[in-house]
Amino acid sequence: MALKTLMLVCLLVAAMALIPPIAEAQLGGLISGLLGLIRIQGTVFCTVDGNMGVNGTATPVFPYALVQLQCGGNVVSSSTTNGSGIFSILLDPLQFLVPSLINNCNLAVKTPLSNCNTSLPSIGGLSSTLQVVGSTVAGLLNITNIIPTGFGFLRA
Ligand SMILES: *[C@@H]1O[C@H](CO)[C@@H](O)[C@H](O)[C@H]1NC(C)=O
Ligand SMILES: *[C@@H]1O[C@H](CO)[C@@H](O)[C@H](O)[C@H]1NC(C)=O
Ligand SMILES: *[C@@H]1O[C@H](CO)[C@@H](O)[C@H](O)[C@H]1NC(C)=O
Ligand SMILES: *[C@@H]1O[C@H](CO)[C@@H](O)[C@H](O)[C@H]1NC(C)=O
Repeated sequence: MALKTLMLVCLLVAAMALIPPIAEAQLGGLISGLLGLIRIQGTVFCTVDGNMGVNGTATPVFPYALVQLQCGGNVVSSSTTNGSGIFSILLDPLQFLVPSLINNCNLAVKTPLSNCNTSLPSIGGLSSTLQVVGSTVAGLLNITNIIPTGFGFLRA
């Protein structure tokens, strides 16, 4: 009986230790009157490394490419580039902490490059780490903007 009580106390203490970060984030949102939102956005180009080439804005983009957000090897969210090669992933800051996203997550383009240019590889794919570029206030939202640091080609 005493052991059970002790275990219950331990569980409660452990559970309480998990609560403060969430409560603080919610409190912060209420005090400033703004709701947080994390937006990961970028453009995928149809080049061997996925970045803008020597031709600058004339570089062809990679439309309708599947872009995954992977954290510790797990897919946590995904998006598809639109006709302009732009993808956007929105995340709830109560579920994702920005420093943890930057340290543990990356973007992986799953659609083969050969889909946008047959001269490019059909196996392997593009990958990029993430960086924060500031925040934007839009109405009641305070959006933390995250972009790819720059894509690179990873062989399968
Ligand atoms: C840059 O543009 C020129 C002229 O359109 C083209 O010939 C060349 O292939 C382009 N280079 C790349 C890397 O796309
Ligand atoms: C792609 O998305 C961007 C950002 O939302 C938008 O400005 C652009 O017009 C879209 N392009 C197409 C072809 O839908
Ligand atoms: C396709 O990729 C090749 C190799 O990178 C490049 O030389 C060529 O200009 C690309 N074609 C188009 C239409 O972008
Ligand atoms: C928006 O969020 C960022 C990061 O949490 C914070 O530094 C900034 O002060 C916030 N802006 C406003 C207007 O609340």
